[in-house]
This record gives sequence, C-alpha cells and structure tokens, in this order.
Amino acid sequence: MQVFFNNEFVEDDKVHISPFDRGFQFADGIYEVIRYYPRNFFELDAHLKRLKYGLTELGITFSNVESIEAILAELISRNNLSDKTAIAYIQITRGTQRPRKHSYNNEVVPTFFAYVEELPINYDAMNNGVKIGIEQDIRWHRCDIKTIALLPNVLSKQRAVQKNLFEIIWHRDGVITEGVQTNVAFIKDDVVYTPLLNNLILPGITRQTVLRLCRSLGIQTSEREIHLDELKNFNEIFLMSTTAEITPVVEIHGAIVGKGVPGKVSKYLQKQFQKLH
Ligand code: PDD
Repeated sequence: MQVFFNNEFVEDDKVHISPFDRGFQFADGIYEVIRYYPRNFFELDAHLKRLKYGLTELGITFSNVESIEAILAELISRNNLSDKTAIAYIQITRGTQRPRKHSYNNEVVPTFFAYVEELPINYDAMNNGVKIGIEQDIRWHRCDIKTIALLPNVLSKQRAVQKNLFEIIWHRDGVITEGVQTNVAFIKDDVVYTPLLNNLILPGITRQTVLRLCRSLGIQTSEREIHLDELKNFNEIFLMSTTAEITPVVEIHGAIVGKGVPGKVSKYLQKQFQKLH
C-alpha cells in the first residue's frame, strides 16, 4: 500500500519511525479519520479545521495543512480506490526528540503520516440497529482534542467486543458524554437531543452534519445535558460518526430501546444523510 510519510509517498513497509518519536513515547499527537465516498472526501474542510484546532491547542507547529487535500487525493489514486468507499487516516505527532523528556523544544519537526484504506459502509449495523453498553467516562478533561492518547477508548471498546456490543457510551457522574468512537443522540416526540459541546466531548463532524440536516428538514433539535436516569424516556437512540454514519441503537445496557427495532426518525435521518454523499 502506498502511504504518505513526512514529505513523500512510499510503500507502507518502507516507513521508519524513531522510537524517540513523541507520539510513541508520550501519545503526543493528533489524528483525523475522514470518509471518502466515490469521488469526494466528505466534509473535508470541517475535518481539517478540527485538525488545525487540535494542533493549536497542543502547540504543534505544522504549517502544511493546506497540502493535505492534494495528498489524500493522490493516495486514493495511487491505491486504486477512486470508485470505492474508503477512509483516510491522518496522524501528526510533535516529532522526534531526544533525550526523552516531558517538556518539548519548539524546534522539533512534526511527524506526518497519512494513508487511505477501503472501508465499506456497515449496512448490517445501520439497517438492523446495534446493542450498546454504558460505562463511566474516565478520560481526561480535554476530549475536545482528537489526540492519539486513546487508552480509555481501547479498553472500553475491548469490553464492548467481549460482550458482543457495537459500542460503549460514557457518562460522567450521570451525565452522558459520548461513545468510544461516536457521538450519541436521543429522540423523544420527534425532537433530537444530543449532549452539548464542551471540553468533555469531541465536536464530531457527523454530529454537526446531522444537526444541520435536522434543521434543514424541520426536525427540532436540542443540545443539552442528558442524564442517565432519563434514558428510559427516549423512544429512539442513534450513534453518529465518520465510519458509522447514523447507526440506530436497539438495546442499551440490556434495556430495549423503543420497539427494539430502528426507529422512524433515525431511519429517515439515515436516508437523508446518505443523500449528502
Ligand atoms: N472516531 N467521539 C469520539 C471519541 C470519536 O473518536 C469520534 C470519531 C467521534 C465522531 O466524530 P466524527 O463524526 O468526526 O467522526 C466522536 C473516529 C472515526 C475513529 O476513532 O475512528
């Protein structure tokens, strides 16, 4: 597979990253995952804007964000994926610095890596709905930055897989935040509720697109705190992410959601969302 590493396109097995890379030693870096649908990158500008936000918040000086679009397009072409549904992965770490120390020099040159890979739409999950669990959110307080420090996500997802669950959503002291890899929305009486944006959740691009879509379709939305003890009141729940699009939830923490099948508003939004790409 052809990937892009620092300044060049190379075969993936030719990439060498120093063990002194701060991404390897400190998870000091950020990433993005972007959907490619035959012939365009979905919401690319919004993803690149979030990437820039992360770079600024972490004080990583990377001036080539403007060249990313052309690099991704070239990767699609070199890997013969033009007619496929794929994802692009981008990772930027602060770079290689030795000897190891927590503080960083401003002269460190960031490490940049990007690849594309075929990833079909998960129609099974989207059509039939999924089961999810609930766990306590033990992450740090800057979940608005898409950092590569993902251990709480990894451990929760592993427990989900072991329990045959599609996803885990988290709460902090009874207030729902988001999923391991998704944002979450709830529906009652045709109103779509989703946790408001703050430092405790990722500002998902799919979430933003869905809220915009709801407004354009005349579906009422509400961004507010959502508490664990009100979950039973909702008729529908769905997950939102780049890879999951709009995926209805039919069971949460062992309790059936609505009638136990994807709800009508979720299905309608899912269909309308697909028209956007
Ligand atoms: N996950 N919340 C978290 C913690 C995420 O990691 C993601 C994305 C989302 C949804 O964001 P978006 O709609 O911009 O994809 C919410 C990516 C896809 C991943 O880890 O694979």
